[in-house]
Amino acid sequence: MTETAKPMTARAAAGPLSGSVRVPGDKSISHRALMLGALAVGETRIKGLLEGEDVLRTAAAMRALGAEVKRTGEGAWTVHGRGVGGLAEPADVLDMGNSGTAARLLTGIIAGHPIFAVLTGDASLRRRPMGRVTGPLAQSGAEFWAREGGRLPLAIRGAADPMPLDYTLPVASAQVKSAVLLAGLCAPGITRVVEPRATRDHTETMLRGFGAAVEVQARADGGREIRLAGQPELAGRPVAVPADPSSAAFPAVAALLVPGSSVTLEGVGMNPLRAGLYTTLAEMGADLAIAGERDEAGERVADLTVSSSPLRGVDVPAERAPAMIDEYPILAVAAACAAGTTRMRGLAELRVKESDRLAAIAAGLAACGARTEIEGDDLLVHGTGMPPQGGATVATQMDHRIAMAFLVLGQVTAEPVAIDDGSFIDTSFPGFVALMRGLGATIETP
Ligand code: S3P
Repeated sequence: MTETAKPMTARAAAGPLSGSVRVPGDKSISHRALMLGALAVGETRIKGLLEGEDVLRTAAAMRALGAEVKRTGEGAWTVHGRGVGGLAEPADVLDMGNSGTAARLLTGIIAGHPIFAVLTGDASLRRRPMGRVTGPLAQSGAEFWAREGGRLPLAIRGAADPMPLDYTLPVASAQVKSAVLLAGLCAPGITRVVEPRATRDHTETMLRGFGAAVEVQARADGGREIRLAGQPELAGRPVAVPADPSSAAFPAVAALLVPGSSVTLEGVGMNPLRAGLYTTLAEMGADLAIAGERDEAGERVADLTVSSSPLRGVDVPAERAPAMIDEYPILAVAAACAAGTTRMRGLAELRVKESDRLAAIAAGLAACGARTEIEGDDLLVHGTGMPPQGGATVATQMDHRIAMAFLVLGQVTAEPVAIDDGSFIDTSFPGFVALMRGLGATIETP
């Protein structure tokens, strides 16, 4: 818990949830829009930017690195960039708050510039591994000094003449892939990254949109090879940010669980490398209707109508994990209300998220009366077809998604579910409580 902790309590919804809403902008795309805008020449106009704490940290960092970043209205921002290689040395430490994406992607950007910078973050971010990015980036000529275990604060001296990298990722991580590609922007020649499994490809898509030459090849083993031609001239451009599928997941599962509900989520990003949760929910028997599929700024979006449905346990393959890596907390809540066992395979990466999510999910569900097991890197949730009892206070461990997942569970438990601290919800989903209440949920705040 933090000094400014905001305890919250969820109670069973008084009736069905209903309504049509748009959740805030996609966090991954919002970070990248600000970063690429700062690396481009000319103006980047962004609409639908997520104005959550994590993204605001990125906006402040890009400003500190010399870009002009202005808010012109709700979700409307303009960036005047400095061009690839043109960022300036920041005058002070860059505080990335709770955001692993901001810290790791920025480390890649700084590594390619001949500047000195120090990154830090909150207690959660200062526990997370940075060696996974500084390891490969050191090969480009950048130098790093970090705490024990490669943890923040991290001092970086970027390379004056960065070398292009050729790197095979040991884990499927879009953050590491993106850090290497962003460093590669400043290096001459081809930067090549091989990922063992395809992860979210927003960096590749957006780099292309800003004018870089990026080639992507699928590999027979399910992975991908990405090649970026270095030192491109990036040009500012308009970016329309889709609604975040990872945020939409919370009202979507609430609508599935609360009897009689039907909720429409508008303009949700449906990139197949992000939509694994929806595939899984459909396998569990969820009534999901996808309408109005369209392309916005290179990303697939659609309106999603979710109606309450009885769910059954399923086996979620490890290969699907990258496409739903942030959705396991809310999937586990759905699984706890489903009939039968759900086995979620291959979740090692969950241990290094905003919290050790594997442990936080299992502990929270157990406190609420659900039966769970961790077997190696698999999480098993044994559902009975009825919601668990509730009646617990769940430790959120500075993790926004743990907080929101358990506030959803409390909509259907016989006894209320409290969380010790909902303050971190603002990192990714400002307005979550108000949006859920607008649909008919019962969430009490102090
Ligand atoms: C993100 C990638 C994922 C995800 C995070 C956002 C991104 O992390 O968990 O919330 O924007 O690239 P990893 O790529 O490290 O799994």
